[in-house]
Amino acid sequence: MNTYDHRLSKYYDLIYSSKAYKKEADFILKHCPNRNSLIDIGCGTCNHSLILSEHFNTILGLDESLPMLMRAKQKTDHLPNVALTNEKIETVKGRFSCAISMFNVINHIHTIEQLSLFFETANTALIADGVFIFDCWNGVSCIIDPPKLHEKREIHIDNMHIICDYYSNTDIFNSTCEMKNEISIKKGDTVVENIQYELKHTLWTPKIITNLLLDNGFESPDIYAYFTKEKAVASTSRITFVVKKK
Ligand SMILES: C[S@@+](CC[C@H](N)C(=O)[O-])C[C@H]1O[C@@H](n2cnc3c(N)ncnc32)[C@H](O)[C@@H]1O
Repeated sequence: MNTYDHRLSKYYDLIYSSKAYKKEADFILKHCPNRNSLIDIGCGTCNHSLILSEHFNTILGLDESLPMLMRAKQKTDHLPNVALTNEKIETVKGRFSCAISMFNVINHIHTIEQLSLFFETANTALIADGVFIFDCWNGVSCIIDPPKLHEKREIHIDNMHIICDYYSNTDIFNSTCEMKNEISIKKGDTVVENIQYELKHTLWTPKIITNLLLDNGFESPDIYAYFTKEKAVASTSRITFVVKKK
């Protein structure tokens, strides 16, 4: 079953409405001086591409979830420079000056072979000197300080009240964090939807990611603390990679 199904995609933007998409887009712009063409791998509902469409000549949003792409289409239909695809990245034709893969997409990949293939295909999609930017969990920080067993977040938007309970089961030995998320959406006092979804994240370490990038035609990456200009350290929980194709 695809986690990013119709029900989750319908409420995805509400659930993540406090995410700093604008700050993340500004970070991408800072590191992508060549604004010719961008591929957004795992674009979801296209929140980054929507902002970046004002700055890039063309954007291709790619996602394996059709329901997420359908939400993305509703939001980008009026933009002539944004196209969407459900193709596998290996089959995408064209060369891009920038590739992004945002919000832990690489943690959705669970084997070294698949992660290596992912980097190889991202590399092939780029022009020489093209820039690849992605963010992920820092597997090392999760060993030092594993994700909390339970986190609760409440969001109030208009007359909607969204209650998110995130339950994490971290298996350090196998480098995974399995999350069970329960979302309750209320209008006034009435519950309009209850959504449960499960997410498995593989907790890749910066060293493994770096080695795989080097193996697949990239230069040595810069690794930042989550969309800041600070370099990441072992305890930085979320990290952002900026890396150039050789
Ligand atoms: C957490 S969401 C992030 C969506 C969007 N990038 C954002 O920042 O809001 C992860 C997305 O990655 C997509 N995804 C995961 N693995 C993928 C893969 N190998 N190829 C394409 N899409 C993928 C999922 O379908 C989902 O839409």
